[in-house]
Amino acid sequence: MEIRVFDSEQRVGEAAAARFIEQLRNKPDSVLGMATGSSPLIMYGLLIDACRAGTISFADAVTFNLDEYCGLDAADPHSYHSYMRKNLFDRIDIDPANTHIPNGNAADITAECAAYDAAIESAGGIDLQVLGIGGNGHIGFNEPSDAFSYGTFVVDLAESTIEANKRFFTRAEDVPRRAVTMGVGSIMNARSIVLIATGAKKAQAVRDMIRGGVTPACPASILQNHPDALILLDGPAASLL
Ligand code: F6R
Repeated sequence: MEIRVFDSEQRVGEAAAARFIEQLRNKPDSVLGMATGSSPLIMYGLLIDACRAGTISFADAVTFNLDEYCGLDAADPHSYHSYMRKNLFDRIDIDPANTHIPNGNAADITAECAAYDAAIESAGGIDLQVLGIGGNGHIGFNEPSDAFSYGTFVVDLAESTIEANKRFFTRAEDVPRRAVTMGVGSIMNARSIVLIATGAKKAQAVRDMIRGGVTPACPASILQNHPDALILLDGPAASLL
């Protein structure tokens, strides 16, 4: 793990964007792993700017998102499909056919998970994966548990995740209880990883990820075993290191 601490959330976003820009310039047909939530928003804004300025193009890029809620239609404004269209895909030159997000509403969810893993593999695997981290140490929606999950699977969201994500919904009761997520195996298979964590609410999870043992009780701790994981933090997120 390489750990870098910046003096603001903006600088963290700039460092993450710089890594993605470098990736796309070196390999325009990169396979990019995407995340939702607050953490990548500054980076996505900077990638939109770079695309509009002609510095980078997503025309040949392929994307795979980490996760999606179960039970929400792709068109639902709270779905991660909607989030990605609004915050990135509709504002860059990517071919929508090259973007992939798990279908949390699939009739056969087991087949959907297997097909998602197969699609990642047939695209050649993920070159660069962006991650956030939950206050409970989750990556994707791999919640703390007594065993790591490897491939894409359906997960019961932790109460703390439902609590943290209710800010995106009108009422806590509206937050879906289940999601489809890439497993830690799929995440660890990415050739490079950039994890963004900002704010004091992430400080304990960041400490557990970096200083604790590798344990499924803190799923992000598995990144200690990744050969190319860049951890980008602001001061408050790094305050317990
Ligand atoms: C999002 C995801 C989650 C978030 C994490 C942090 O696709 O997989 O692991 O990255 O919950 O969320 P924020 O960035 O909103 O604090």
